[in-house]
Amino acid sequence: MKIGIGNDHSALELKAEIIELLKARGHEVVDYGTNSTESCDYPVYGEIVGNAVASGEVEKGILICGTGLGISLAANKVRGIRAAVCSDTYTAKMSRAHNDCNILAFGARVVGAELAKMIVEVWLDTEFEGGRHQRRVDLIMDVERKAHEE
Ligand code: RB5
Repeated sequence: MKIGIGNDHSALELKAEIIELLKARGHEVVDYGTNSTESCDYPVYGEIVGNAVASGEVEKGILICGTGLGISLAANKVRGIRAAVCSDTYTAKMSRAHNDCNILAFGARVVGAELAKMIVEVWLDTEFEGGRHQRRVDLIMDVERKAHEE
């Protein structure tokens, strides 16, 4: 799978470990930055990866900032994006199985590298269950559609 990854200055070390894991699992990784430890603005990278996923340039996205919050909030403003902050494997699994999330976010200052890797593995290994969950995801996307119509 082609996976896009983006982060702010707080997450360089963790990103490197996640990229290594993704490549070891046979994924193609597109690194959208930042690749500097200089303080930067996380919305920039949330938007870039959000657009890459929404346009189909990459199939799924992974975003990392200090908490995972700011960068996911920015990505969620891109049409078609469902980004979830996951600090545990159960939430990561459900964000795919029930919410069909297309971006995984987590915090480099919240989760350690080993837990982050488990979260990524579970998230990538879990398929959307569809059925009644499809109806609910459709309702989420209706909210977005209505907001854009205004
Ligand atoms: C940067 O200091 C920090 O605010 C950022 O990484 C993130 O946690 C924001 O949500």
